[in-house]
Amino acid sequence: MKLLILSGPNLNLLGTREPEIYGSETLEDVERFLREAASSQGIELDFFQSNSEGALIDALHAARKDCAGVVFNPGAYTHTSIALRDAISAIQIPVVEVHLSNVHAREEFRKRSYLAPVCIGTISGFGTTSYRLGVDALLDYLKRRH
Ligand code: DQA
Repeated sequence: MKLLILSGPNLNLLGTREPEIYGSETLEDVERFLREAASSQGIELDFFQSNSEGALIDALHAARKDCAGVVFNPGAYTHTSIALRDAISAIQIPVVEVHLSNVHAREEFRKRSYLAPVCIGTISGFGTTSYRLGVDALLDYLKRRH
């Protein structure tokens, strides 16, 4: 079984970007620890990060062909993108929305997610652990469904 771990704008700067909010681990660190956990469970992971909305939409479309589900940190597109919401609705595979920070404890504009209603659930506020929790939640969902 293969899952896509998708990250949106500015997450390539993780580790140096506002470390007081997002921590000091990099996206490469996230990839390393998720791969370690997944290999012991026989799960394959694809990783993709882009700062472009269109590239993220293309990655979601491609995932529908060979991935069982997606763990997605959409970054600021969470709060703006109807196009990404429509892509998630279109692909008909489960998507978990994840955030490193607790978006509900920050600015008002971060409390609104255009994507959450079409995701199976949202994890927010656990730093890089949010990605791991997202993978666990997605695997649990897929197991129950089959
Ligand atoms: C984020 C939260 C978003 O509001 C922000 O725009 C990001 C990162 C997070 O992981 O906490 O870029 O998705």
